[in-house]
Amino acid sequence: MKLVKLAALAALSLAASVASAQVIKIGFITSYSGLNGNLGPYMERAVRLYMKQHEKELPPGVSIQLITRDDTGPNPDKAKQLAQELIVRDRVAMLAGVIFTPNAMAIAPLATEAKVPFVIMNAGTAVITTRSPYIARTSFTLWQSSFPLGQWASKKYKTAYSLVSDFGPGHDAETGFSQAFEAGGGKIVAKVRVPLQNPDWAAYLQRVKDAKPDTLFVFIPAGKTATAVMKNFSDLGLPAAGIKLIGPGDITTDEELPNMGDVALGVTTMFHYSAAGDRPANKAFVAAWKAAYGANETPNFLSAGSWDGTAMIFEAIRQQKGKIDPDRTMEIFKNWKFPNSPRGPISIDPETRDIVQNEYLREVRRVAGQLANVEIETFATAVKDPWKELQKKK
Ligand code: PHB
Repeated sequence: MKLVKLAALAALSLAASVASAQVIKIGFITSYSGLNGNLGPYMERAVRLYMKQHEKELPPGVSIQLITRDDTGPNPDKAKQLAQELIVRDRVAMLAGVIFTPNAMAIAPLATEAKVPFVIMNAGTAVITTRSPYIARTSFTLWQSSFPLGQWASKKYKTAYSLVSDFGPGHDAETGFSQAFEAGGGKIVAKVRVPLQNPDWAAYLQRVKDAKPDTLFVFIPAGKTATAVMKNFSDLGLPAAGIKLIGPGDITTDEELPNMGDVALGVTTMFHYSAAGDRPANKAFVAAWKAAYGANETPNFLSAGSWDGTAMIFEAIRQQKGKIDPDRTMEIFKNWKFPNSPRGPISIDPETRDIVQNEYLREVRRVAGQLANVEIETFATAVKDPWKELQKKK
Protein backbone atom coordinates (compact mmCIF):
# COMPACT_ATOMS: atom_id res chain seq x y z
CA MET A 1 0.00 0.00 0.00
CA LYS A 2 2.69 2.35 1.11
CA LEU A 3 4.81 1.43 -1.89
CA VAL A 4 1.95 1.97 -4.31
CA LYS A 5 1.29 5.37 -2.79
CA LEU A 6 4.92 6.37 -3.12
CA ALA A 7 5.03 5.22 -6.71
CA ALA A 8 1.89 7.21 -7.45
CA LEU A 9 3.36 10.25 -5.78
CA ALA A 10 6.57 9.86 -7.75
CA ALA A 11 4.61 9.59 -10.98
CA LEU A 12 2.64 12.68 -10.06
CA SER A 13 5.70 14.74 -9.28
CA LEU A 14 7.37 13.54 -12.45
CA ALA A 15 4.31 14.65 -14.43
CA ALA A 16 4.40 18.00 -12.65
CA SER A 17 8.08 18.54 -13.40
CA VAL A 18 7.58 17.56 -17.03
CA ALA A 19 4.71 20.02 -17.26
CA SER A 20 6.73 22.83 -15.69
CA ALA A 21 9.98 22.09 -17.55
CA GLN A 22 9.70 24.41 -20.43
CA VAL A 23 11.89 24.67 -23.48
CA ILE A 24 11.75 27.96 -25.32
CA LYS A 25 12.79 27.51 -28.93
CA ILE A 26 14.59 30.35 -30.67
CA GLY A 27 15.11 30.16 -34.41
CA PHE A 28 18.51 31.67 -35.15
CA ILE A 29 19.24 32.54 -38.77
CA THR A 30 22.63 33.82 -39.88
CA SER A 31 25.26 33.25 -42.60
CA TYR A 32 27.69 30.36 -42.24
CA SER A 33 28.46 30.23 -45.96
CA GLY A 34 28.37 32.54 -48.98
CA LEU A 35 29.50 36.18 -48.89
CA ASN A 36 31.41 36.77 -45.61
CA GLY A 37 30.04 33.45 -44.37
CA ASN A 38 32.77 33.38 -41.70
CA LEU A 39 30.74 35.98 -39.76
CA GLY A 40 27.87 33.70 -38.64
CA PRO A 41 29.90 32.16 -35.82
CA TYR A 42 30.69 35.65 -34.46
CA MET A 43 26.97 35.95 -33.78
CA GLU A 44 26.22 32.42 -32.63
CA ARG A 45 29.19 32.33 -30.28
CA ALA A 46 27.97 35.52 -28.60
CA VAL A 47 24.47 34.10 -28.12
CA ARG A 48 25.83 30.85 -26.66
CA LEU A 49 28.28 32.68 -24.40
CA TYR A 50 25.50 34.86 -22.99
CA MET A 51 23.25 31.81 -22.51
CA LYS A 52 25.99 29.95 -20.66
CA GLN A 53 26.87 32.87 -18.40
CA HIS A 54 23.27 33.70 -17.56
CA GLU A 55 21.31 30.44 -17.67
CA LYS A 56 20.88 30.54 -13.88
CA GLU A 57 18.82 33.71 -14.28
CA LEU A 58 16.12 31.90 -16.26
CA PRO A 59 12.93 31.06 -14.34
CA PRO A 60 13.02 27.61 -12.66
CA GLY A 61 12.42 24.79 -15.15
CA VAL A 62 12.84 27.05 -18.17
CA SER A 63 15.55 26.47 -20.75
CA ILE A 64 16.35 27.79 -24.22
CA GLN A 65 16.87 25.71 -27.33
CA LEU A 66 18.72 27.59 -30.04
CA ILE A 67 17.93 26.22 -33.50
CA THR A 68 20.55 27.54 -35.93
CA ARG A 69 20.10 27.86 -39.69
CA ASP A 70 22.41 28.98 -42.53
CA ASP A 71 20.84 31.52 -44.89
CA THR A 72 23.92 31.25 -47.18
CA GLY A 73 24.62 35.01 -47.38
CA PRO A 74 22.42 37.71 -48.91
CA ASN A 75 19.67 35.34 -50.07
CA PRO A 76 16.13 36.50 -49.23
CA ASP A 77 14.38 33.44 -50.69
CA LYS A 78 16.43 31.09 -48.57
CA ALA A 79 15.96 33.24 -45.45
CA LYS A 80 12.21 33.29 -45.96
CA GLN A 81 12.05 29.53 -46.41
CA LEU A 82 14.09 28.94 -43.25
CA ALA A 83 11.96 31.34 -41.20
CA GLN A 84 8.80 29.66 -42.45
CA GLU A 85 10.07 26.22 -41.43
CA LEU A 86 11.18 27.47 -38.03
CA ILE A 87 7.76 29.01 -37.41
CA VAL A 88 5.53 26.27 -38.78
CA ARG A 89 7.48 23.08 -38.17
CA ASP A 90 9.66 23.88 -35.18
CA ARG A 91 7.13 26.26 -33.59
CA VAL A 92 9.80 28.69 -32.37
CA ALA A 93 8.75 31.36 -29.87
CA MET A 94 11.08 33.94 -31.42
CA LEU A 95 13.33 34.50 -34.41
CA ALA A 96 16.75 36.13 -34.13
CA GLY A 97 20.02 36.81 -35.94
CA VAL A 98 20.34 37.87 -39.63
CA ILE A 99 23.36 39.63 -41.05
CA PHE A 100 21.92 40.86 -44.34
CA THR A 101 19.16 43.41 -44.92
CA PRO A 102 17.45 41.63 -47.86
CA ASN A 103 17.03 38.56 -45.64
CA ALA A 104 15.57 40.57 -42.76
CA MET A 105 13.12 42.24 -45.17
CA ALA A 106 12.02 38.84 -46.48
CA ILE A 107 11.37 37.50 -42.97
CA ALA A 108 9.50 40.60 -41.70
CA PRO A 109 6.05 39.74 -43.18
CA LEU A 110 6.25 36.24 -41.69
CA ALA A 111 6.97 37.66 -38.22
CA THR A 112 3.85 39.82 -38.58
CA GLU A 113 1.61 37.07 -39.91
CA ALA A 114 2.65 34.50 -37.31
CA LYS A 115 3.10 37.06 -34.48
CA VAL A 116 6.63 35.85 -33.80
CA PRO A 117 8.97 38.42 -32.20
CA PHE A 118 12.06 38.87 -34.39
CA VAL A 119 15.25 40.24 -32.84
CA ILE A 120 17.56 41.70 -35.49
CA MET A 121 21.13 41.31 -34.29
CA ASN A 122 22.91 42.78 -37.32
CA ALA A 123 21.07 43.93 -40.48
CA GLY A 124 21.32 47.74 -40.47
CA THR A 125 19.10 49.37 -43.11
CA ALA A 126 16.94 51.97 -41.35
CA VAL A 127 13.62 50.92 -42.87
CA ILE A 128 13.71 47.29 -41.63
CA THR A 129 12.06 47.96 -38.26
CA THR A 130 9.11 49.64 -40.00
CA ARG A 131 8.35 46.40 -41.88
CA SER A 132 6.87 44.55 -38.89
CA PRO A 133 5.59 45.52 -35.43
CA TYR A 134 7.20 42.27 -34.22
CA ILE A 135 10.74 43.43 -35.03
CA ALA A 136 13.14 44.94 -32.49
CA ARG A 137 16.77 45.68 -33.38
CA THR A 138 19.80 45.41 -31.08
CA SER A 139 22.48 46.15 -33.69
CA PHE A 140 22.69 49.56 -35.39
CA THR A 141 21.58 51.50 -38.42
CA LEU A 142 23.99 52.78 -41.07
CA TRP A 143 22.51 56.23 -40.58
CA GLN A 144 23.56 56.11 -36.93
CA SER A 145 27.25 55.99 -37.90
CA SER A 146 27.35 57.61 -41.35
CA PHE A 147 25.39 60.76 -40.47
CA PRO A 148 27.63 61.81 -37.54
CA LEU A 149 30.69 60.81 -39.60
CA GLY A 150 29.51 63.25 -42.29
CA GLN A 151 29.21 65.99 -39.66
CA TRP A 152 32.73 65.30 -38.40
CA ALA A 153 34.22 65.00 -41.90
CA SER A 154 32.68 68.29 -43.09
CA LYS A 155 34.87 70.13 -40.56
CA LYS A 156 38.02 68.41 -41.78
CA TYR A 157 37.68 67.87 -45.53
CA LYS A 158 36.38 69.99 -48.43
CA THR A 159 35.64 67.19 -50.90
CA ALA A 160 34.48 63.62 -50.48
CA TYR A 161 33.92 60.66 -52.82
CA SER A 162 31.28 58.15 -51.75
CA LEU A 163 31.68 54.48 -52.69
CA VAL A 164 29.14 51.97 -51.35
CA SER A 165 27.82 48.47 -51.96
CA ASP A 166 24.67 48.65 -54.03
CA PHE A 167 22.03 47.43 -51.55
CA GLY A 168 20.01 48.80 -48.61
CA PRO A 169 22.72 49.55 -46.05
CA GLY A 170 24.99 51.02 -48.76
CA HIS A 171 22.24 53.37 -49.93
CA ASP A 172 21.59 54.45 -46.33
CA ALA A 173 25.29 55.00 -45.67
CA GLU A 174 25.63 57.10 -48.84
CA THR A 175 22.56 59.24 -48.09
CA GLY A 176 23.28 59.70 -44.37
CA PHE A 177 26.92 60.64 -44.96
CA SER A 178 26.23 62.94 -47.94
CA GLN A 179 23.41 64.84 -46.23
CA ALA A 180 25.50 65.62 -43.17
CA PHE A 181 28.69 66.34 -45.16
CA GLU A 182 26.90 68.77 -47.49
CA ALA A 183 24.96 70.41 -44.65
CA GLY A 184 28.35 71.07 -43.02
CA GLY A 185 29.62 72.79 -46.19
CA GLY A 186 31.46 69.88 -47.84
CA LYS A 187 31.17 68.90 -51.49
CA ILE A 188 30.45 65.34 -52.64
CA VAL A 189 32.37 64.85 -55.90
CA ALA A 190 30.89 61.44 -56.78
CA LYS A 191 28.42 58.87 -55.47
CA VAL A 192 29.28 55.44 -56.84
CA ARG A 193 27.48 52.19 -56.04
CA VAL A 194 29.27 48.91 -56.66
CA PRO A 195 27.83 45.38 -56.99
CA LEU A 196 27.50 43.54 -53.68
CA GLN A 197 29.32 40.45 -54.93
CA ASN A 198 32.84 40.46 -56.44
CA PRO A 199 33.26 44.02 -57.68
CA ASP A 200 36.49 44.89 -59.49
CA TRP A 201 37.92 46.98 -56.64
CA ALA A 202 41.02 48.02 -58.57
CA ALA A 203 38.92 49.61 -61.32
CA TYR A 204 36.67 51.48 -58.85
CA LEU A 205 39.57 52.70 -56.71
CA GLN A 206 41.58 53.85 -59.74
CA ARG A 207 38.66 56.16 -60.60
CA VAL A 208 38.67 57.48 -57.03
CA LYS A 209 42.40 58.19 -57.30
CA ASP A 210 41.88 60.07 -60.56
CA ALA A 211 39.14 62.22 -58.96
CA LYS A 212 41.54 63.34 -56.17
CA PRO A 213 39.01 63.85 -53.35
CA ASP A 214 40.26 64.86 -49.88
CA THR A 215 38.53 61.83 -48.45
CA LEU A 216 36.97 58.57 -49.62
CA PHE A 217 33.87 57.45 -47.75
CA VAL A 218 33.24 53.69 -48.07
CA PHE A 219 30.54 51.31 -46.93
CA ILE A 220 30.87 47.63 -47.75
CA PRO A 221 29.62 44.65 -45.73
CA ALA A 222 32.07 43.85 -42.94
CA GLY A 223 34.36 40.85 -43.10
CA LYS A 224 36.52 39.73 -46.01
CA THR A 225 35.06 42.41 -48.29
CA ALA A 226 36.54 45.08 -46.00
CA THR A 227 40.00 43.55 -46.30
CA ALA A 228 39.73 43.46 -50.10
CA VAL A 229 38.92 47.19 -50.17
CA MET A 230 41.72 48.04 -47.76
CA LYS A 231 44.32 46.11 -49.78
CA ASN A 232 43.29 47.65 -53.09
CA PHE A 233 43.15 51.14 -51.54
CA SER A 234 46.76 50.71 -50.49
CA ASP A 235 48.07 48.82 -53.56
CA LEU A 236 46.78 51.51 -55.91
CA GLY A 237 48.60 54.19 -53.92
CA LEU A 238 45.60 56.17 -52.65
CA PRO A 239 47.19 56.85 -49.23
CA ALA A 240 50.32 58.18 -50.97
CA ALA A 241 48.08 60.39 -53.13
CA GLY A 242 46.83 61.99 -49.91
CA ILE A 243 43.32 60.49 -49.96
CA LYS A 244 42.00 59.67 -46.47
CA LEU A 245 39.82 56.58 -46.08
CA ILE A 246 36.82 56.95 -43.74
CA GLY A 247 33.58 55.05 -43.14
CA PRO A 248 31.37 53.29 -40.63
CA GLY A 249 33.18 50.64 -38.57
CA ASP A 250 32.27 47.94 -41.09
CA ILE A 251 35.38 48.94 -43.09
CA THR A 252 37.76 48.17 -40.20
CA THR A 253 35.87 45.23 -38.73
CA ASP A 254 37.78 44.12 -35.60
CA GLU A 255 38.36 40.49 -36.56
CA GLU A 256 39.90 41.42 -39.94
CA LEU A 257 42.46 43.95 -38.65
CA PRO A 258 45.24 41.32 -38.44
CA ASN A 259 44.52 40.35 -42.08
CA MET A 260 44.50 43.98 -43.21
CA GLY A 261 47.85 44.77 -41.66
CA ASP A 262 49.50 48.19 -41.48
CA VAL A 263 47.52 49.59 -44.42
CA ALA A 264 44.66 50.06 -41.95
CA LEU A 265 46.69 52.30 -39.63
CA GLY A 266 45.19 55.77 -39.34
CA VAL A 267 41.83 54.90 -40.94
CA THR A 268 39.09 56.86 -39.15
CA THR A 269 35.65 55.41 -38.56
CA MET A 270 32.46 56.19 -36.62
CA PHE A 271 30.79 53.25 -34.87
CA HIS A 272 28.99 51.96 -31.81
CA TYR A 273 31.33 49.09 -30.92
CA SER A 274 35.03 48.36 -30.82
CA ALA A 275 36.65 45.31 -29.26
CA ALA A 276 39.25 47.80 -27.98
CA GLY A 277 36.67 49.86 -26.04
CA ASP A 278 37.96 50.26 -22.48
CA ARG A 279 34.63 50.10 -20.64
CA PRO A 280 34.74 47.49 -17.84
CA ALA A 281 31.73 45.66 -19.37
CA ASN A 282 33.63 45.37 -22.67
CA LYS A 283 36.83 44.22 -21.01
CA ALA A 284 34.83 41.49 -19.26
CA PHE A 285 33.10 40.57 -22.54
CA VAL A 286 36.37 40.30 -24.48
CA ALA A 287 38.03 38.34 -21.64
CA ALA A 288 35.10 35.87 -21.48
CA TRP A 289 35.27 35.49 -25.26
CA LYS A 290 38.98 34.67 -25.21
CA ALA A 291 38.52 32.26 -22.30
CA ALA A 292 35.75 30.44 -24.19
CA TYR A 293 37.10 30.51 -27.74
CA GLY A 294 40.89 31.07 -27.57
CA ALA A 295 43.39 33.80 -26.75
CA ASN A 296 43.69 34.91 -30.40
CA GLU A 297 39.92 35.23 -30.91
CA THR A 298 38.22 38.63 -30.82
CA PRO A 299 34.52 39.48 -30.77
CA ASN A 300 33.31 42.05 -33.29
CA PHE A 301 30.25 44.30 -33.68
CA LEU A 302 28.12 41.37 -34.85
CA SER A 303 29.03 39.67 -31.57
CA ALA A 304 28.05 42.76 -29.57
CA GLY A 305 24.66 43.00 -31.32
CA SER A 306 24.03 39.32 -30.67
CA TRP A 307 25.16 39.44 -27.04
CA ASP A 308 22.87 42.37 -26.30
CA GLY A 309 20.01 40.82 -28.28
CA THR A 310 20.29 37.71 -26.13
CA ALA A 311 20.26 39.85 -22.98
CA MET A 312 17.02 41.42 -24.24
CA ILE A 313 15.48 37.99 -24.95
CA PHE A 314 16.44 36.85 -21.44
CA GLU A 315 14.68 39.86 -19.95
CA ALA A 316 11.47 38.99 -21.83
CA ILE A 317 11.66 35.36 -20.68
CA ARG A 318 12.32 36.38 -17.06
CA GLN A 319 9.52 38.92 -16.92
CA GLN A 320 7.01 36.45 -18.36
CA LYS A 321 8.28 33.57 -16.22
CA GLY A 322 8.88 31.52 -19.33
CA LYS A 323 5.36 31.87 -20.82
CA ILE A 324 6.04 33.79 -24.01
CA ASP A 325 3.23 35.97 -25.29
CA PRO A 326 4.27 37.80 -28.47
CA ASP A 327 2.61 41.12 -27.71
CA ARG A 328 3.80 41.19 -24.13
CA THR A 329 7.29 40.30 -25.40
CA MET A 330 7.25 43.29 -27.75
CA GLU A 331 6.18 45.58 -24.87
CA ILE A 332 9.12 44.34 -22.82
CA PHE A 333 11.48 44.85 -25.79
CA LYS A 334 10.20 48.39 -26.32
CA ASN A 335 11.00 49.34 -22.75
CA TRP A 336 14.32 47.54 -22.54
CA LYS A 337 17.35 49.38 -21.21
CA PHE A 338 20.83 47.93 -20.77
CA PRO A 339 23.16 50.40 -19.04
CA ASN A 340 26.01 47.91 -19.03
CA SER A 341 26.36 46.72 -22.60
CA PRO A 342 29.93 46.16 -23.84
CA ARG A 343 29.31 49.15 -26.15
CA GLY A 344 28.12 51.46 -23.35
CA PRO A 345 24.54 52.28 -22.30
CA ILE A 346 21.87 51.19 -24.80
CA SER A 347 18.08 51.06 -24.95
CA ILE A 348 15.26 50.38 -27.39
CA ASP A 349 13.32 53.41 -28.63
CA PRO A 350 9.72 52.44 -27.71
CA GLU A 351 8.37 54.39 -30.67
CA THR A 352 10.46 52.71 -33.37
CA ARG A 353 11.74 49.50 -31.70
CA ASP A 354 15.20 50.52 -32.87
CA ILE A 355 18.43 50.70 -30.88
CA VAL A 356 19.58 53.88 -29.12
CA GLN A 357 23.34 54.03 -28.49
CA ASN A 358 26.56 56.05 -28.43
CA GLU A 359 28.66 56.67 -31.51
CA TYR A 360 32.43 56.67 -31.07
CA LEU A 361 35.01 58.30 -33.34
CA ARG A 362 37.77 55.73 -33.76
CA GLU A 363 41.16 55.43 -35.40
CA VAL A 364 43.11 52.29 -36.21
CA ARG A 365 46.26 52.34 -34.09
CA ARG A 366 48.78 49.83 -32.88
CA VAL A 367 48.20 48.94 -29.24
CA ALA A 368 50.57 46.49 -27.53
CA GLY A 369 51.66 45.20 -30.92
CA GLN A 370 48.13 44.63 -32.26
CA LEU A 371 46.00 46.77 -34.56
CA ALA A 372 42.92 48.12 -32.78
CA ASN A 373 39.98 50.44 -33.39
CA VAL A 374 40.89 52.91 -30.65
CA GLU A 375 37.94 55.02 -29.49
CA ILE A 376 39.31 58.55 -29.44
CA GLU A 377 36.07 60.36 -28.65
CA THR A 378 32.45 59.66 -27.72
CA PHE A 379 31.15 61.70 -30.63
CA ALA A 380 27.43 61.51 -29.73
CA THR A 381 25.48 59.87 -26.92
CA ALA A 382 22.07 58.14 -26.95
CA VAL A 383 21.78 58.42 -30.75
CA LYS A 384 18.42 57.42 -32.22
CA ASP A 385 18.27 56.35 -35.87
CA PRO A 386 18.68 59.75 -37.63
CA TRP A 387 16.66 58.62 -40.66
CA LYS A 388 13.58 58.02 -38.50
CA GLU A 389 14.13 61.30 -36.65
CA LEU A 390 14.28 63.19 -39.97
CA GLN A 391 11.16 61.39 -41.26
CA LYS A 392 9.23 62.70 -38.23
CA LYS A 393 10.09 66.28 -39.16
CA LYS A 394 8.75 65.89 -42.70
C1 PHB B 1 23.18 44.60 -43.91
O1 PHB B 1 22.88 43.86 -44.87
O2 PHB B 1 22.31 45.27 -43.33
C2 PHB B 1 24.59 44.70 -43.47
C3 PHB B 1 25.52 43.74 -43.85
C4 PHB B 1 26.84 43.87 -43.44
C5 PHB B 1 27.23 44.95 -42.66
C6 PHB B 1 26.30 45.90 -42.28
C7 PHB B 1 24.99 45.79 -42.69
O3 PHB B 1 28.53 45.09 -42.30
